[in-house]
Amino acid sequence: MNPAFPPGFLWGCATSAYQIEGSPLADGAGPSIWQRFARTPGRIAGGDTGDVACDHYRRMPGDVALMKALGLTAYRFSINWGRVLPEGRGTVNPAGLGFYERLVDELLAAGITPMATLYHWDLPQALDDRGGWLNPDIAHWFADYAQVLYRALDDRVPLWSTINEPWVVADGGYMHGVLAPGHRCAHEAAVAAHRQLQAHAAAVRAYRAMGKHRIGLVVNIEPKHLAPGATEADRHAAALADAYMNRQYLDPTLLGRYPDELREVFGANWPDWPEAEVEALKTPVDWLGLNYYTRAVVQADPAGWPVKAAPVRQPGAITTETGWELHPQSLTDTLLWMHQRYGGLPLYVTENGAAFYDPPHTIDGRIDDPLRVHYLRTHLAAVQAALTQGADVRGYCAWSLLDNLEWAHGFAKRFGLVHVDFQTQQRTPKASARWYAQLIARHGAGLDGVPPPA
Ligand code: BGC
Repeated sequence: MNPAFPPGFLWGCATSAYQIEGSPLADGAGPSIWQRFARTPGRIAGGDTGDVACDHYRRMPGDVALMKALGLTAYRFSINWGRVLPEGRGTVNPAGLGFYERLVDELLAAGITPMATLYHWDLPQALDDRGGWLNPDIAHWFADYAQVLYRALDDRVPLWSTINEPWVVADGGYMHGVLAPGHRCAHEAAVAAHRQLQAHAAAVRAYRAMGKHRIGLVVNIEPKHLAPGATEADRHAAALADAYMNRQYLDPTLLGRYPDELREVFGANWPDWPEAEVEALKTPVDWLGLNYYTRAVVQADPAGWPVKAAPVRQPGAITTETGWELHPQSLTDTLLWMHQRYGGLPLYVTENGAAFYDPPHTIDGRIDDPLRVHYLRTHLAAVQAALTQGADVRGYCAWSLLDNLEWAHGFAKRFGLVHVDFQTQQRTPKASARWYAQLIARHGAGLDGVPPPA
């Protein structure tokens, strides 16, 4: 027992529907925007798709057994909207809903707390055909969809979140076009951000009317740092980058205002939202989820878009396969920043992890991933530090349970604690999974000293 981790602290892993499930059209499901995006040449590396992925849709009971064997006490998963409502609204598809009911029952039987995310990027194509996140009606569509889930699962799901990383949806999907639906338009990005905030608020309000447990929002935060010798222009650029990425969602939701800097970031593309509409975005939540991967050291760069800033690579920094610098201290700092800025809300680290090149299996079939063990150990120590400094952190989910479809990177980037052979679907827990299982069994005790398993 480690006194830093409170009793009931959740030890989990996270996944998302499109990245692991496969069978995207099974049992009457409607296609999502990722279905179309993956079929558009050049969008996903290697032409990979989520058609099979980890085949989790068909192997779910085995995957839950695996989680139980690792001793996880929580599992964060997302619900594919189009399985439940093939057209995105209207008629419910009982077979699609049934999958998530079985998943939740299986988790509970295994003693694992289900953490359900309503939206992790797989918008029903039928809704995108009506404008998707740009359509003002989407707040109602989303709240109606949410209510179907609350009705079916709130008796068994204690922790809900609405939207996973709205910044990535707007920035990747509408600003830079690297994620579905692949648009490149700054005005659309600002609109998609606002519509997501409205949808989040509508779903939380609906939950207040009928839910019995706790609902929150999950954001990705990447602290923006300055290099030694930074100029005033660098400082200004860092503040803009911070507003755009780190405060654009939490400030309206919790403080009822957009950061002032956004007017400068978006320029003429910034929509003049009526004040009352912005104030209506303020909706108390029960908890906040932090997806933390890295920090960025930035400097002013006139060619930057939409923020006139660019990342500066740090000499000597250890980086992951996705080029992200290892910086555990920023996880501690971010948890404390959220704690202080947003009123001491309960916090969960809803994602944290790293893609590294995994060496081939050893002769006895083991996979040793010492860099991932190092990543997890140092970041869990960072969570412990935040706890001892007063942040109310209630749980941690490693990203990810399984190697999976890393969006536009396809299957090439492996984040799993469990290796997946995509030819055979064989699952092999890596050394990181075994290390995490040992740590969970000790409720975090000896965090710095737990050796990698033999
Ligand atoms: C997302 C995951 C993704 C992970 C690693 C997060 O932004 O929520 O879906 O796989 O980062 O890139």
